Amino acid sequence: MIWVQIVSVIFCILVKTAFPVEASARAGGGKLSMVTLDYTKDDEDSSLSSFNFVGNAEKIINFRSRRNFYQNTVEGFEPGDGAPGFQVKTLDGEFVYPPPSGLNFSLIVHAFTNKSAFLECLWTSQSSLTDFIQYLPESAHVLFLSFDDTAARDALWMKEQIQRMGMYRGKDILSRVHFSPVPVYALGNWIPAVLYSWGCSGHNCGLAQVLFTSTEWDMPVVAKRLDARYDWLMGHWDQRSYSLVDAGDGCKPTATVAAAVAWVSEGNCSFFVKVKNMADSKAAGVLVYAPLGSPIQDMNCEGEECYTLLSIPASMVHVEPAVVRALLDMQPVNVSFQYTPAPSFFFGIDQQGALAEMGWFLYPTFRFISWQAQWFDFSEELQAQLRSPAQVVTVFDKVVMQGTAELLLL
Ligand SMILES: *[C@@H]1O[C@H](CO)[C@@H](O)[C@H](O)[C@H]1NC(C)=O
Ligand SMILES: *[C@@H]1O[C@H](CO)[C@@H](O)[C@H](O)[C@H]1NC(C)=O
Ligand SMILES: *[C@@H]1O[C@H](CO)[C@@H](O)[C@H](O)[C@H]1NC(C)=O
Ligand SMILES: *[C@@H]1O[C@H](CO)[C@@H](O)[C@H](O)[C@H]1NC(C)=O
Repeated sequence: MIWVQIVSVIFCILVKTAFPVEASARAGGGKLSMVTLDYTKDDEDSSLSSFNFVGNAEKIINFRSRRNFYQNTVEGFEPGDGAPGFQVKTLDGEFVYPPPSGLNFSLIVHAFTNKSAFLECLWTSQSSLTDFIQYLPESAHVLFLSFDDTAARDALWMKEQIQRMGMYRGKDILSRVHFSPVPVYALGNWIPAVLYSWGCSGHNCGLAQVLFTSTEWDMPVVAKRLDARYDWLMGHWDQRSYSLVDAGDGCKPTATVAAAVAWVSEGNCSFFVKVKNMADSKAAGVLVYAPLGSPIQDMNCEGEECYTLLSIPASMVHVEPAVVRALLDMQPVNVSFQYTPAPSFFFGIDQQGALAEMGWFLYPTFRFISWQAQWFDFSEELQAQLRSPAQVVTVFDKVVMQGTAELLLL
């Protein structure tokens, strides 16, 4: 840990020395790793402008500013820019930013939409909510918004979810979370501009959907889906139409699903057993549906299950009555997989008041919000240290260095 800190301090000093002008202009800006690295003339030579962290051969995490991907960011609202003041009506009165008493917290802004299965799971999973309450640092506030017309109801619902879990955990965080009954499109301040222009590509943003079609229907049925946890099932849906075959609860192999997508109910056995049975039955993939009124869950393996590699994709959806009826009536149903871009669901403002992007949510848990807020704390502390006068430690002073000339010339 200490070593990592030392390395990052040295790294920052190097970067600061190399780019003194930009670095000071950006001082106090969002994530150090992004902000200090992303400004190298990003338009001309993209090979110079990016800083890639290669986690494994397939996943390259790119820390470049979104500006490089999306040319539509709004002037003055890029990561690292100062966040102008704003007010938002909340369930507990007006939320005024920055507070009149002076800014002493970081802020995470999250806008919910129930069109995203990922967000539905984030908000209904007990471990996700518990992680939020347990790990959100005291120095962070969170503003909760909704994109949907049901914003007033969503605000009450979100507050209830957090209140319930807070009571259960014996923690009072309600003074630091703010719920807006006003939908994003009606806020009338700059927040929608940031949410709409900071597009999001990659993990779990945008709207992952399934599209069911049947020759008997005039209109396809489009529904939200949550793909099984990325680090468990690596299989991906192809860009094609699959036929859909009912496979009951999927707790036993069924030859009828060969080459098709298996339509499987939740329960009676684990997600792993279902996917394994369907893989053994040569299915092309699995759609597990939650029973009516139950939320979509983050499908994962547990314990020893995780040692068995499965190579077909699987997603979770809500039960669709039209699909169930068609399958019962032996009408052919096809399914395909699509992804619709959406505004960003999250952004942050650090303790210095600079706009910041959120790290990727690799799976649906509020832990990522808590981690982001913890990062703001770390970064704030680090920058305070960098601003204070440096302590000079003399290592060599008036020491004659001995060595051979050949070596030096090499
Ligand atoms: C979200 O949608 C699901 C079904 O699509 C529904 O069961 C649930 O009640 C909705 N949640 C909210 C907060 O509207
Ligand atoms: C920030 O300031 C407010 C009002 O002065 C105070 O109640 C709160 O404890 C402070 N928070 C932190 C993390 O210092
Ligand atoms: C349904 O899926 C099957 C299998 O992929 C395919 O052959 C067929 O063309 C699809 N039908 C439609 C109407 O898309
Ligand atoms: C679980 O198994 C029972 C007995 O086979 C069956 O009646 C029931 O429908 C199954 N439940 C689900 C959710 O598929």
